[in-house]
Order: sequence, then C-alpha cells, then structure tokens
Amino acid sequence: MPLKGKKILLGITGGIAAYKMCSFVRLLVKAGAEVKVVMTPSAAKLVSPLTLSVLTNNDVVINMYPEHSDPENIETVSAGTWHIKYGLWADVFIIAPATANSIAKITCGISDNFLLSTVLACRCPVFFAPTMDVDMYNKPVTQENIKKLAGRGYMVIEPFYGELASGLFGMGKMAEPEIMFDVLKIHFEKKKDLKNKKVLITAGPTVEPIDAVRYISNYSSGKMGFDLARAADERGADVTLIAGPVNLETPNGIKRIDVKSSDEMYKAVIANLKGKDVVIMTAAVADFKPVNVPGNKIKKEDKNFNMNIELEKTTDILKAVGKNKKNFFLIGFALETDNGIPNAQKKLKEKNLDMIVLNNPKEEGAGFGTDTNVVSLIDKRSIKKLEKMTKYEAGNEILNYYLKKIK
Ligand code: CTP
Repeated sequence: MPLKGKKILLGITGGIAAYKMCSFVRLLVKAGAEVKVVMTPSAAKLVSPLTLSVLTNNDVVINMYPEHSDPENIETVSAGTWHIKYGLWADVFIIAPATANSIAKITCGISDNFLLSTVLACRCPVFFAPTMDVDMYNKPVTQENIKKLAGRGYMVIEPFYGELASGLFGMGKMAEPEIMFDVLKIHFEKKKDLKNKKVLITAGPTVEPIDAVRYISNYSSGKMGFDLARAADERGADVTLIAGPVNLETPNGIKRIDVKSSDEMYKAVIANLKGKDVVIMTAAVADFKPVNVPGNKIKKEDKNFNMNIELEKTTDILKAVGKNKKNFFLIGFALETDNGIPNAQKKLKEKNLDMIVLNNPKEEGAGFGTDTNVVSLIDKRSIKKLEKMTKYEAGNEILNYYLKKIK
C-alpha cells in the first residue's frame, strides 16, 4: 500500500469544505499513513480540531503562540520553531480546502499563522486544493496566484464544477476526499526511475542585441523546457536547466542558469555538459544575430544607420554538441510549419541526435505560450505521433522514451 507509513501533513484553511477533511483523514489513517493536522484559526471555526485530533491520534496545531503551552511537553508547544519541525517531518503537505486568501498569502510568502509558516518552512512536495465561490475562483488575481504556485512546483488539485455552498453553480467545489486520496496514492506510487541520472535541459528563447536597448528574439515561453525539467526532477533526476529570458518560476530542486543571448547559452551548455546522461534542447535559439552591435542606442536620425541590420548565423548549439557527442543521449526539438517529418529527420541526422521531438506551432493545441503540445518522437527507425497533451505530459513521454532506449 503506497500510503503505509507515509507522513502526511494536512493543512486546513477556512473554507466550508473543511468539514469533509474528517473523511479524508479517515481514508489516510485507514491506509496506514501517519497524519498531522495544522489549521488556520478560521478553519477551526468550521470543523472541530478535537475531532481531527481524535481521528489522527495527534495534536492539531492552530496558533503560533497558544495561551497555555507547556514547554515541558513538546506535544502541546506550538510556538517557536514548531513550524520548522512540522515542515521537515512531512513527506507531503496537502492544503485542502485552500481558500483564495491563503493561496494569495502563500503566493506572496506571507506567513502570519502557523499553517502558512509551515508552508514556507517545509521541504516536501506541497499539494493544494483551491476551494471557493465561483466568482472568487474566476477572478484573474486568483487564477494568476494558482498559476504562479503551480509554476513554482506546487501541485494543484483542481476544483470541480457544481453547486457551491452559496447556492451558486460553477467552478470552485473542492475535489472529493476520495479523489484527493487517489492523488496522494499516485504521488507515492510514482517511480523515481531517473534517480542518479543527470539531465541538462535548455529552454526559452534567446535575445540577440541590435544595440544597447533593442534585440531580436522569438515568442518562445520556455514552458516546454520548464515542464520537462519539472517532470525529470519529480522522477528523481539531477536537473540543470539553462534558460533564456522567460517569465517562469523554477520548479523546486532544479539548478537554473539564466542566459540571454545564444552565445551565452552556448557557453553555459558547454560548461555544464560534463557528466550528463541526457541532454535535451528545447530552447528556441535565435538563428541570426546582428553583426555589429553598438554599445549605445542607435538614434533615428543617425546618418550611419542605413535602416538595414546586417545579420550573421548564431552557433548551432545542438549541432556543436552533437558533433562532439560522448556518453550522453542527445535529444533535440524541431519546430516546423511545413514538411515536418522530412525536416526533422534531416535535423536528426545532421545534428547527430538520438531522438528529435517534432512540433508544429501552427497545429491546434501546440506551439508557443500554450500549456499543451502535439509532438512526434522521431529516431532513425521510428516515428511516434503523440496525441495532444499537456507539455508536462509530453515531457514525461520524452523521458519514458529515453529510458526505453537506454535499456
Ligand atoms: N538549436 C540550437 N542552436 C541554434 C538553433 C537551434 O541549439 N542556434 C537547437 C534547438 O534547441 C532545437 C534544434 O536545434 O533543439 C532545432 O531547432 P529549430 O529552430 O527547429 O531548427 P534550426 O536548426 O534552427 O533550423 P531552421 O530554423 O532552419 O528550421
């Protein structure tokens, strides 16, 4: 049983669905997990801490500084460094229900109650189940906060559509305890099949300066590379992520190196190749860069500027790495709007790759800035077209492919 002996920290914030957490705790305890509960003061008004304490056979912590803490009895002391202890104790922290208020505070790093301090202090994976009224859920600020947390590696247990406590219908209903139980089960079942593997990933665009203030670039959001990095990290790999300028948070535990131009990315890749088992280049590296880059801003009236920018090719990083390929598996991406398969096969050969991932930004559900992608995995002998899936799922498929090939 994957949950047996697992240490689950349950954080309950003040949503009406808090009452459902008693059933959730029962499921976990029955499955052999050890459960500790921390609550916000508002949650404690909605569901009885005593009930949860009896069900978990553990103290329930609400306040940073309880009135009657007994320093001799550690079970009753919740002041001082207890948030650190709880944070380090847990194998997983699940916050459910997670209200708009607590989500917003977590996004900003606010830690003005025991539960929030523990979120900041913990080192384990954190799941959260957004639960609130439909309008609160749909507000851009709430959606942005949820996205931000997801980008930082927090795992969202999506709410459902249905009748809410207010009587309104819409999104915001907390996932049922059985579903949250399954989410944790799957989490613990997940294989760490990339343990001891060192992975190097490039992601995002590069920017090629024209002068001191202008540049040439492309629309790459970096999402494919970042989701791939997160997937590899979750599967136990040691991940180095070399990123062009992107607006994304680094998932937990990943070594990120920020670069701007293709030259900087090239240098960073070469400097970090040593000892890698697999190198995956998702970056949309600019193919051309201006030949002359003045250190100042070109003025409109500048007589020497003839309205033409002379360009030269950038170094093809992937090709250079392929040329000197040693003991690592090399995966490239091919972004093609026309003749996808023959072009990708050509790149596979010319860049000496073990596999190439073909994608067409014009295809529905693929391309820059989307959360999904439609890719084909191509090697010397086979072409495997995958369904439309999230970039995170596509990342996992690429990693599965790699593991199958090195067996
Ligand atoms: N790539 C690279 N360095 C470059 C250009 C591309 O490392 N200067 C890598 C990309 O990260 C990707 C692969 O090469 O993994 C293919 O990139 P793509 O843009 O599809 O093809 P190009 O080789 O640049 O050719 P073209 O733009 O003509 O299709």
